[in-house]
Amino acid sequence: MKKRVFDPWEVKGPMNYDKLVKEFGVSTLKTLPGIFNKELLFRRKIVFAHRDYQKILESIRDKKKFVMMTGLMPTGKFHLGHAILAKQFVFYQKLGAKIYIAVADIEAYNTRNQSLEQSRKIAIEEYITNYIAMGLSPKNVEIYFQSNRSKDAKKANAYYRLQNLLARHATFNEFKAVYGDITPGKMLSSLLQASDMLHSQLPEFENQCQIVVPVGIDQDPHLRIARDISKRIKNPMFTQLSSTYHLFAPGLKGPKGKMSASNPNSYIALTDSPKEVKNKINRYAFSGGQPTLAQHKEKGGNPDIDVSYQYLKMLLEEDDKKLLQIREDYKTGKLTTGELKAYTIQKLNSFLKEHQKEMKKAKKLVSKFLG
Ligand code: TRP
Repeated sequence: MKKRVFDPWEVKGPMNYDKLVKEFGVSTLKTLPGIFNKELLFRRKIVFAHRDYQKILESIRDKKKFVMMTGLMPTGKFHLGHAILAKQFVFYQKLGAKIYIAVADIEAYNTRNQSLEQSRKIAIEEYITNYIAMGLSPKNVEIYFQSNRSKDAKKANAYYRLQNLLARHATFNEFKAVYGDITPGKMLSSLLQASDMLHSQLPEFENQCQIVVPVGIDQDPHLRIARDISKRIKNPMFTQLSSTYHLFAPGLKGPKGKMSASNPNSYIALTDSPKEVKNKINRYAFSGGQPTLAQHKEKGGNPDIDVSYQYLKMLLEEDDKKLLQIREDYKTGKLTTGELKAYTIQKLNSFLKEHQKEMKKAKKLVSKFLG
């Protein structure tokens, strides 16, 4: 068995979400208001857990201003897993939220040995261009680099000042308890990320307001630290952060772990060609089917571990009825692995064809998103 690693900087090996929910003390997401049915990630509980999300639901209900804040570590190719987060930005932006996105170039420098120049290049060419192609509009968005918060000195100072002031309100034992092994670089990343998550409430930005941070559940330790510290600060007062957690897109090899930019055999990039997609799905996508066709027809397959089915469910098949039909047919063995893969390839390639057309347009718009 492969070694399991799970912390905010590295996730390897099989996932056990139920265990994490219990261990971290997050809540599972229950019924949401009707408007959330528009986004399959909510409808199908791909966004599955939260902290204090009720406050965001109230802001939406009362048409009160709120902020959606998240960040990205700009390493490697933009893949299907990243698209799960990008769809959420676009959804919140349509709901009227102000969007803050941090490019974690300082974090990548301190924890991945990646230069700021390299991070900038990857962030722009891969991440930001893909976000735009997925529908992020330049209205109501602030995308910034941790190493270069703002040209406006008042804003920049406020952001870095907050990171530094937060330090007094945490103890070393707390850091050790939350992160285990901790280096100075990781500790600074944690405090900078806390400032990422909280600074929009400062008077230089939006003033005290409700913030939701959508992330993968590996990032919850950062939220715990930021939430605990912010409660102890009285001046300025911070409204408690809300957060949501989405499932990771499984890597092509399925049970072995999540899709990861550092492992090319695990991902489908949004720039992959139709040939690459066909080859990757046919050769690598883990199948929940039986070893022989005869056995499959007799016993049926398991969609819950089948990677092609998971991609349809998480991103590609908008039609709930059709998805259910595929699920049932696969379970009874009527639908074979070959057929399921062929359908997934077709869906993926039509999604990517459209997306890659949008990417071409997006390249010309990037400068509008960089303050
Ligand atoms: N640590 C995050 C990652 O590895 C990136 C990040 C930086 C972030 N600042 C953030 C995420 C603020 C959420 C909110 O992907």
